[in-house]
This record gives sequence, structure tokens and C-alpha cells, in this order.
Amino acid sequence: MLKRADSTQSGLRNSICAKLTDARERTLLLVASLTDEDLRVQHDPLMSPILWDLGHIAHFEELWLTRNLSGKIEFSEMPGMYNPFEHPRATRAALPLPSLRALMHTAAEIRTDTLAALESADLHSDHPLLAGGFVYNMVLQHEYQHNETILQTLQLKTGEPYRAPRAVAAPPAGSDAFDRMVRVDAGTYPIGTDDRTAAYDNERSRHPVNVNAFDIDAAPVTNAAYEQFIADGGYLQPELWSDDGRAWLADSGALAPKYWTASPDGWLTRTMDVVAPIEPGHPVCHVCYHEADAYARWAGKRLPTEQEWEIAASWDPTTASSQRFPWGDAGPTALHANVDQLFFGTTPVGAFERNVSPLGCYGMIGDVWEWTSSDFSGYPGFVAYPYPEYSETFFGAEYKVLRGGSWATRPGAIRNTFRNWDYPIRRQIFSGFRCARDV
Ligand code: AVJ
Ligand code: FE
Repeated sequence: MLKRADSTQSGLRNSICAKLTDARERTLLLVASLTDEDLRVQHDPLMSPILWDLGHIAHFEELWLTRNLSGKIEFSEMPGMYNPFEHPRATRAALPLPSLRALMHTAAEIRTDTLAALESADLHSDHPLLAGGFVYNMVLQHEYQHNETILQTLQLKTGEPYRAPRAVAAPPAGSDAFDRMVRVDAGTYPIGTDDRTAAYDNERSRHPVNVNAFDIDAAPVTNAAYEQFIADGGYLQPELWSDDGRAWLADSGALAPKYWTASPDGWLTRTMDVVAPIEPGHPVCHVCYHEADAYARWAGKRLPTEQEWEIAASWDPTTASSQRFPWGDAGPTALHANVDQLFFGTTPVGAFERNVSPLGCYGMIGDVWEWTSSDFSGYPGFVAYPYPEYSETFFGAEYKVLRGGSWATRPGAIRNTFRNWDYPIRRQIFSGFRCARDV
């Protein structure tokens, strides 16, 4: 047993308990309308059967919030059917997955044990797993991230389309005030964080980086701008693409972002069950790194590094300090950014007037993940914690970093320092980009 709790921790404990309940309610809301068949089949080789995600969410909680708090700590992924390394995604439909009913029963039993263990967990402990509720925030973020994974699967699903549980009316119109670039001066800026209550190991430590002066787009690239790239033959000009980009282009035969189809009246796109003309003022979504890279070359620009992206999102020149979010230090609400699956799709650039960083960049958080030119690697002095399979296993040149979260990201799983990563050919993720250039 890790050290016993004192009675002053009930506030933090209650807040953790409420977040655990909310996370599970959202997971169940997302899958509530699905048939048994839709839960069990593999909708795409890239993704797991949704039942696997659900079982994996529950067993990750069991590993970290019950087993690892009551005995010898296993700093690795869980053994068995829900271990992602033992069972690659493409093979998961062959696993003997239980019924949803059985799985929900197991998840509820795990949750009972979790809440019992929380009652005696010492959140003021010196142990980095418990201090400030770190391991609870890790498990919460894991469920949030798998919510987004499930939504990628539901967007990929063919046949009967997914009916999104839409709770909120369409957002207000956008603005063209962000159709410009922002100048960032050469200098030394802080990147990353020392936080040990919610941040992942890959976000630590806070460290200075030197950058040359650069310009960065004040907004993500819109559908209208991307359409010009297509109309100008962007997909047909090999010189705009890198070697790997050309190989992807030849292999995929792509002529437009994923989920776009040509019609006599122009491009249509599908978001879940909604097929509609593309919205010119929304950020482009479902492009891979190679498409973003080719567009940037066509525009006479380049993709930002992840450090440039983070400076543009977080640096406040008037206080010479960095913020956790573009608008300040408090997390996103429905007033700040298009996150949390509010609209089930992108919203117009400029729709959230608070979503502007001190340097003047709109929409760094929400709508679409933004590709950067950076490979995923550890910051100086990186130490894997609490298990290497979250981040360290993926360090290397195969993965590119994405920043900023999407409309499908839950607020607890995004901040200016948060780093996502994926293969440069992937575009089932909710991904767009903005450009930068040297000055
Ligand atoms: C950070 C989104 C790349 O889905 O592979 C989920 C998140 N890690 N379970 C992924 C994650 C373990 C991860 N990404
Ligand atoms: Fe996982």
C-alpha cells in the first residue's frame, strides 16, 4: 500500500471522481447508438473494433488505478487481450472480445475498485504516481484519447453512417481578419513544462530554444485556400512533393483530402452522417503530412517546427512569459474553442473570438490537429514516466508531431505543450495545418 490519505484531500478526490464519471458518460454516449455488429466488426484495418477500445479503456484503468496502487508497480502496458503491442490493430477483430453487456459489467466492477482505492490514496504523497493526482489524470487522458480514436473509426465506417449525438447548435460565422501571417522575433523562448500533475513525460522538461525570426499563419489553412491548391494542379505537380510524398501520392492516387468527393457543383465532404459542400471558411481537415508539406511548398512557405508552433500559441511578449492556452492559463470551455465533440465537425475560422494567442494566432487549440515539420523525439534530459510505451517507444523519424487538438479532443487532453504524433501518411485523424516561413 502506498501511504494512507489524510482528510484534507477530499476536494481533489471529489473532483477526480467527478471527472472519472464524466469520462465514462461521454464514452458511453458516443457508442450508445451503435449496434452489436458495429461494435464488434473492424471498420478499417487502421482501427480497432470499438469493443476493443472499450475493453482497453477499462483494463488500462484496472492496471493503473487498482493493481498498481495496491502492490508492486508494473510500469508497462497491461498483459493479455487488450495489450496494444501484443495485438496490432489489424488483428484485433480475431480476438475473443466479450459482448458489450459483459464488458460493461467488467468496467463497472473495475470502477468500483478504482473508487475504493481512491478513498485511501494519498494524493499529497511524494510518490510521483500519486502526487497531485497524476495517475488519475493519466488514466482520464487515456480515455479521452481513445474517445477520439473511436470517432476516427466512426468517421471511417461505411454503410449505415454514424448518427452523431449533437447537443449544440451550429457555431457563429467566422472572420477573414486572420488571413495574414504573424511575425515572431528571433530569440530564446521556453518550450515544454515541468508540470507533474497532468502533463505527459514527452512534454517535460521546460527548456529554452533559440529560434530565428519567422512568420506563421494567423489561422489554419482553410478549405477555400486548399481548393485553390487543388485547382492549380497541386496534386499533379511532382516538384511540389517530397520523395516520400510522391511515393504516397502514387500509392494512394489521392486528388483531394480524405472524405472529399467531386460533384458537378464542386467538392462535397462527409462528416459522419452529413454530406455537404465543403465550407470555404473552415480549416481543411483529413490531410496527411505530405499534403500539408506540398501545399506549403506551393504557397511559397513551409510547415512550422513544433517549437515555432508552441511559441506562437503560448508566448506573451508583453509579460515575457508563456501561457498554458492561447487565451490564458484556464482550460477550454465551449466559449473558447471548438473542442469536446460539441459540433461534430470543424467551425469557421474566427468563430471563437477568445481563441487568439497573445501573438495574434487564431485557433491554435481546437478544430483540427496541426501537422508540424518536427519528428517525434524526447526533449533534452527526457525521462520516460511512468511507462516507456506511452512516448519513448515511438521516438524517431517515422513519426511527425501534431499540435493543438481537434473538434473531437476532450478539453482535458489538450494544452499548448501537448504533443501528438502519427505517421506522415495518416489522414483518418482530424488533421489540418498552418504554414510558416523564414524572414
Ligand atoms: C498520442 C494519440 C498517438 O492513440 O496511439 C492511447 C494515444 N496511447 N493509448 C495513440 C494513446 C495509448 C496515442 N496518441
Ligand atoms: Fe491506449
